[in-house]
Amino acid sequence: MGVMKNHLVGDLIVGCLCLFLILCCMADDHYYDFYVTEKNITNPCASKNFALVVERVPGQTIHVHRGDTAFINVHNNGTYGITIHWHGVKQPRNPWSDGPAYVTQCPIKPGKNFTYEVLFSEEEGTLWWHAHSGWSRATVHGAIAVLPHKDTPFPFDPQPYKEHVIVLGEWFSGNMTEFFDTEEKRHTRTSLSDAYTINGLFNCTADEGYRLVVESGRTYLLRIVGASMDHEMFFAVADHNLTVVGQDGSYVKPITTTYIMITPGQTFDILLTADQLPSCYYMAVGPYNDGGNHAQRNSSIATAILQYKSTSCPPIIPFPNQLPKVADTVSAKNFTDQIKSRDSVNLPEKPDDKIFIAVAVSHQLICGKVHASLNNISFVHPKIDILQAYHRSLPNIYETDFPHQPASTTLNFTGDDSLKFEFPILGTKILMIEYNRSVEIVFQGTNLGAENHPMHLHGYSFYVVATGDGNFNETEYKNNLNLIDPPYLNTVGVPRNGWVAIRFVANNPGVWFMHCHLERHAMWGMDTAFIVTNGITENQSIREPPNGLPECSSSYNTTTSNFDADENTELEDATPLEKWSGIISSWNVICFTLLITVFSFIYVFIR
Ligand code: C2O
Ligand code: CU
Repeated sequence: MGVMKNHLVGDLIVGCLCLFLILCCMADDHYYDFYVTEKNITNPCASKNFALVVERVPGQTIHVHRGDTAFINVHNNGTYGITIHWHGVKQPRNPWSDGPAYVTQCPIKPGKNFTYEVLFSEEEGTLWWHAHSGWSRATVHGAIAVLPHKDTPFPFDPQPYKEHVIVLGEWFSGNMTEFFDTEEKRHTRTSLSDAYTINGLFNCTADEGYRLVVESGRTYLLRIVGASMDHEMFFAVADHNLTVVGQDGSYVKPITTTYIMITPGQTFDILLTADQLPSCYYMAVGPYNDGGNHAQRNSSIATAILQYKSTSCPPIIPFPNQLPKVADTVSAKNFTDQIKSRDSVNLPEKPDDKIFIAVAVSHQLICGKVHASLNNISFVHPKIDILQAYHRSLPNIYETDFPHQPASTTLNFTGDDSLKFEFPILGTKILMIEYNRSVEIVFQGTNLGAENHPMHLHGYSFYVVATGDGNFNETEYKNNLNLIDPPYLNTVGVPRNGWVAIRFVANNPGVWFMHCHLERHAMWGMDTAFIVTNGITENQSIREPPNGLPECSSSYNTTTSNFDADENTELEDATPLEKWSGIISSWNVICFTLLITVFSFIYVFIR
């Protein structure tokens, strides 16, 4: 009898536990349709004739719980090829839905559609989505809100009363899609944006722009997205403190601050309590650039308004004086250095593999083009995506000899030796990583194009274990090493003339892009990709390709390993005529004429 009872109790407990697990941890599927169209968009201060958008700028926010799946059917109703990337979503075993053009897929052609299966796993917090073909992400982007498991509170207090998305972007009055459509244009200096934006808007007077209405005494969760194209940003709200609780879809030890610094690609979860005199307050965003050339960059500031309910604006709109100035590296560093993961991770002392990557931008030489490089390799996008080439074993699409370190690791990178990176090799060179290896990458900034480079890795988050000024050095590395609670990010700023070390375990097989998230640098070639090989079991291997993957324009002949025809239906490819007219373009003509004139003068003079 007693035994029976024990059995019953036991079964009951097991049953309850199962029910609890099912209820609490059941993952949901979500379905979205994104229609990419071209339309005229306007701002209170400026109208724009043409932009590629998903409805509006920013586009809609995707809402999921931890571990859910989102099926997003992207319909291309525009006239250019497009892809969309789910920035910071690891997509376990599913690089097919990651999105970077010519890395994991070819663009979705006009009139076609493709359903991305976006797999959430350990992410929790704010992430975002954006176009990943050409410069279209300037207007094609939006936030992703990943809530904790159903019926689970946020792991911080107070629980927010409401949440709001704040996307920090950049406004270009030109047509971004056509701006950089030929190889020739892609390697010239880019023009500046016209303004910075908060939720797509910027203001000429206090009445315009984005307005966030709050109730006095309440706490709000702000989901902040760094969607700017080419600038790191400072953000502040006048007279209010910000409490940072998460970054890049992972929780951090709460930090109370009066401003944040956010690089393109990064996201923050921030608590703001409406605890000031009911009134109107400015929120402001301005650039951070420590490259010394900030005078040449867009140094304007955009504002929005935080308005307490049932007050009207004005009377008081104080400007956030705590917003650091454009070249304020001390403030940028003071903020970044405070960030630590909420939970302890205790990483192993030594990684399996070490990779050292020197990051450089070579300046425009006489008659030359601008190139950016990683270990002296300037990345060239192939005509067929690397993932497909890898899956089908197509030769001649990419090479696997991306160097594990530059010619030497003891160069004076931040000094004269940086000139060794002035003439990078062009190629589609990628790096093979064996499944489950623990990898450490040291990114070393150089004196070429010295400024912060926000390096972003697809398919993973990584621990930022150490950082330092100047050339990498072992002693400084050992002294600074944080293996306990390092920040867990997907985008990290490599400091100007400094270095940063990151760690991850290669447990997500696939083809994963890695690049600088300053769009001009990515365009100039500061990119590479990792192929993480399959493990032994099916659960450790890349999934089978989904149906309906976009076709590539170039058809690849498997017998000759060559391209049959190049239809050039995509924006990415220039026609031969365009290419030649590009080469004989104004800059080259002026440059050659100047050179010939100079040499003629020298010749006449010597004679
Ligand atoms: Cu935010 Cu390669 O992307
Ligand atoms: Cu860069």
